Formats: sequence, C-alpha cells, structure tokens
Amino acid sequence: MINVIGLGYIGLPTALMMASHGLEVVGTDYSNELVAMLNAGSTTFKEEGLVELYASAVRAGIKFTTEYQKTDMYIVSVPTPYDKFSKKVDASYVVAAVREVMKVCQKGSVVVVESTISPGTIDKYVRPVIESNGFKIGEDLHLVHAPERIIPGNMLYELVHNNRTIGADSREVGERVRQCYASFCQGEIVVTDIRTAEMTKVVENTFRAVNIAFANELARICRHDNMDVYEIIRICNKHPRVNILQPGPGVGGHCISVDPWFLVGDYPQLANVISESMKTNDTQPSFVLERIHEIMRQQGITDSNRVGLYGITYKENVDDIRESPTLQLLGIQEHHLASPLKNFDPFFTNKVVAPNQILDFDQFLDSVDMVVIMVKHNHIMKNWSRLKGKVILDCHNVCPLENVYHI
Ligand SMILES: NC(=O)c1ccc[n+]([C@@H]2O[C@H](COP(=O)([O-])OP(=O)(O)OC[C@H]3O[C@@H](n4cnc5c(N)ncnc54)[C@H](O)[C@@H]3O)[C@@H](O)[C@H]2O)c1
Repeated sequence: MINVIGLGYIGLPTALMMASHGLEVVGTDYSNELVAMLNAGSTTFKEEGLVELYASAVRAGIKFTTEYQKTDMYIVSVPTPYDKFSKKVDASYVVAAVREVMKVCQKGSVVVVESTISPGTIDKYVRPVIESNGFKIGEDLHLVHAPERIIPGNMLYELVHNNRTIGADSREVGERVRQCYASFCQGEIVVTDIRTAEMTKVVENTFRAVNIAFANELARICRHDNMDVYEIIRICNKHPRVNILQPGPGVGGHCISVDPWFLVGDYPQLANVISESMKTNDTQPSFVLERIHEIMRQQGITDSNRVGLYGITYKENVDDIRESPTLQLLGIQEHHLASPLKNFDPFFTNKVVAPNQILDFDQFLDSVDMVVIMVKHNHIMKNWSRLKGKVILDCHNVCPLENVYHI
C-alpha cells in the first residue's frame, strides 16, 4: 500500500493516478476540510479530466483520511515555499510530515519525498529526523527523492507522458520506486542519486525563470527606445540556434517564481545570473503598472478605478492564484494609494479572491474604460469582440483587435 501525504495540486492527481492503475493507495492530508470534500465525492480544484480520474480511483478503492497509515511506502507531497529573507528552501512542512511518518511506519518502509527541495535538503533536514527516531537509513528505512514536473492546465496528460527522475541511495530501492511510477508513467524514468535528483528539479525551473527574465528584459529595453519586441523576437527566432521566449506581465505559481530562489539562498556568491533574473521577473508587475499609468496619461483616463485587470490566476485556464502577477500588481498599487484597479477572472465568478474584483464579465466591462490582459484564458481568446471600444493593454500580444497597446 502507498500512503500519499499532502493532497494538493501534486499529491492528489498522483494518488488518483496510482490508484486507478492498480496500486492500493490511501491519501492523507491534515486539512479536515479537504479530506471531507474528497470523501463527499468532490475534487478540490479544477483540472481537465480530474473528475473522471477521481471517479476511477474511487472505483479502484482509494481512501482519503487525515490519519497517517502503517504501510511500506510513503509519498510526501507537501508545500516547500522559500524563506522570504534568506531565500533558502523552507523545509519545515517536509520535516513535519516525515516526523509524522516516523510515528507509524514499519521497518523496511520507503519514504519518497516528491516535494521540490534544494540540493542537500534531504541530507540536512530529512536524514536527521529519521536517524533521531532510531532508524538506520538503508537498512530499516529507505529514502528516495522523486520530483514532479507536471504543469497545471495539462497535469493529467503530463503525469502519464513526462519523463521523471528518481534519486535514491541504492539502485535497488530506486528501481522499486521506479516500478510504482511506471504503473502509470509512459515517459523515461531515470534513476540517479538523491542530490542529483534534488538539483535537477531546481535547475529545470531555474532554466525557465532565466529565459523568461531575458524576454522580460528585452521588453523593457524595447519599450525604452520604442522598438517592437515581438517583431524582434520573431525575427531572432529564425536563427537556427536562437529560441527566445515571449515577455509577459510577471511570473507566478509555485515553481518558477519560487524554486530558483533556493539556489540564490544556498549559493549567494555564485548564483548571480539567477538572482538578477528573479529580480527582473519579480519587478515585472511594477513595470506593467508603470505602463498602465503611461497609457492612462496618453488616453486621458484620470481615474484608475476605470481600469480593469483581466485575469487573476497565475496562468491561463487554471484556478491557481498563488504568486499571481495580478495579485502582485494589486499589492504594489495599494502602496501608491491610487483608487484600486478593478479586476475579473472567469475562474472566480462566485468567489472573491482579490480586492475590487467584479464577479460578472458584463459588469466588469461596463465599469472600465481600459482593460489590461494579464492572463490569456481561453474565455477571452473567444471574446475579443466584447472589448471593442475599450483601451487595451495586452501583456501577452494575443489580442487581434486594432490599436492595442503592449508592454
Ligand atoms: N503545483 C505545481 O504545479 C507543482 C509542480 C511540480 C512540483 N510541485 C511541488 O510539489 C509540492 C507540493 O505542491 P502543491 O502545489 O501540491 O502544494 P499544495 O499546497 O497544493 O498542497 C499541499 C498539501 O499538503 C497538505 N499538507 C501540508 N503539510 C502536511 C502534513 N504535515 N501532513 C499532511 N498534509 C499536509 C496541505 O494541507 C495541502 O493540501 C511542492 O514542493 C511544490 O513545489 C508543485
């Protein structure tokens, strides 16, 4: 039996996938509310195919509980934020979960940490917890790190098709865990050591953050001297060895805006490009706010209350608002004491998640003269004609209407 600890964006789909592929699974989360929802028959967030996968896992016998189970394999999938001051990984959730595992586990169990962690976290924080509970790692208990790569919005496809990495102290244990993931994963599963697995996951997200920062910096340079960044990137990308990403309003979510800071925190003297890239991405919402003010001046819009941000989530077609650029932008403008910008998101028409949020799209459009496209949800991609007559700032270069402003 596998006990999946932490049933959030990563733990829940993983547990459901394993259960519906023939493994005996119990999902544990310390949130009573979350477990009650799952036991009452509803999933806890929106993701294509999740409802069907949930039904299939329930038919296969998955159980949800707040209790840790006595079993031979644990998959720990709890949050790993970063400490805002030191920038280092905050391993406290992982440590707390492993402590709870220690209270119930039996000899021979495998503890798989699936949460994203910086290189050395298992050595520094997890091994001591296990050893202080009297277990000899490698004999009484085994440790594995199996980071996850799936992207919200396409999670279930990616769970099946992505390649994976498994880091273990011994090849034999790594193989055992590989076989569990291979029950549903059709991608290549590489088995390596724990520290390499820790580092690869953080490096992958850092690669993406640095490349996004490069595109964002180009947007600022081009704006400064009135050049068309999109045309420039389009032409550059015709070079056979150049592939520049598109600029945007900032970076959110739980991976690209968080994980690279772990390297900055652990290697402050060495991670210079990474540190500057993270600062560039983190200040992109301020850059968008300056651009909003500039366009307001040009268009004679004097009240920022007549400006609306479209999209609150951190990326398109998901309901996840963690570290969202829109929320960052609203936070910054609060300090400027201007009247608050209105905002709307088609994923939150029944629930208020941001100050000055309008729940109805028509009311949102009626209440603003200028719309800022912060998120390219499918909803707006099918509704451009509704924006006719508005001043538009398109942060993603996706709006086909005429006279649209860009960042
Ligand atoms: N969300 C993503 O897109 C993504 C992608 C790849 C990797 N990751 C990594 O996966 C890990 C989990 O992220 P997430 O997005 O699923 O987080 P989440 O916040 O959605 O879910 C974490 C869950 O763990 C539960 N929890 C916390 N401590 C617990 C404990 N001690 N015992 C039992 N339950 C506990 C919480 O109640 C919550 O339901 C993080 O390390 C993250 O960096 C996330």
